[in-house]
Amino acid sequence: MSERAQCWINGRLMPGSEASISVFDHGLLYGDGVFEGIRFYQGKAFRLQEHLQRLMDSAAAIRLTVPYPQEALIQAVADIIAAFAEPEGYIRLIVTRGAGPLGLNPEPCTHPNVILIADCLSMIDERQRRQGVRLIVASTRRLPADGLDGRIKSLNYLNNVLARMEASQAGADEAVLLNRNGYVAEGSAENIFTVRNNHLFTPQPTDGALQGVTRGVVMALAAGDGLPVTACALTPYDLYTADECFLTGTGAELIPVREVDGRPLPHCPGPVFSRLAEAFADRVARETQAG
Ligand SMILES: Cc1ncc(COP(=O)(O)O)c(C=O)c1O
Repeated sequence: MSERAQCWINGRLMPGSEASISVFDHGLLYGDGVFEGIRFYQGKAFRLQEHLQRLMDSAAAIRLTVPYPQEALIQAVADIIAAFAEPEGYIRLIVTRGAGPLGLNPEPCTHPNVILIADCLSMIDERQRRQGVRLIVASTRRLPADGLDGRIKSLNYLNNVLARMEASQAGADEAVLLNRNGYVAEGSAENIFTVRNNHLFTPQPTDGALQGVTRGVVMALAAGDGLPVTACALTPYDLYTADECFLTGTGAELIPVREVDGRPLPHCPGPVFSRLAEAFADRVARETQAG
């Protein structure tokens, strides 16, 4: 938490240092809740509508009622951006099941908590962004859809955390998780793309990839630029033999990959990545400009 962090909890704005919720919240006790990560630029949230739609879908999937209409959440986002000292930052929007007795049953939790946190978030330093990151393929697998569907952005991130720990342990920067069938799902908090012969490939949500907002923007930008994009099953072989590889996410934005499991990739940052990173920055600037 930085000194500038602000929080909004159930309608009340406060400095991050003064924010607290009950230790009986099932979000804490069982990871029972959903969330979104949203970036703002020039004082305006990027793709807010898409984030709110995904939040509502995640909540519906776990039978959690978000106790505010969308307009109130949009206002909360505007209020917390106004309270934050900087025009650029990151918002974590969380809806928890709320406080209840010990025990998994969510029925006694009648008051979900809605929490917004505004702060800065930097996933990598400038040098890594310039030079690219090193990935490992983690032994920790993405949970199967019949356990927890990857499209639900829930507070259960433990397998992502374990994969991320594997990356650090191996001296790498980030981990890629495979699904139960050995197909590439995504990074611990990012979607992944490969490029081969100027053609982009990315895993499908049914293979365990979150339907990333940034992924969607990048796919549209690529298509608009005449670059074919295919969402399909990929294996580690496809990562090892790619011309280029990169990660996308709200926190990450676009990050080039320079190495996968010790195999250097031929281009990092590659020409396709550089084109898309520039187009993404332009799109963000255009969509968040005043007026
Ligand atoms: C597991 C996972 N995959 C992918 C993403 C990227 O999604 P988005 O671009 O919507 O931030 C995230 C972002 O939080 C994530 O947590």
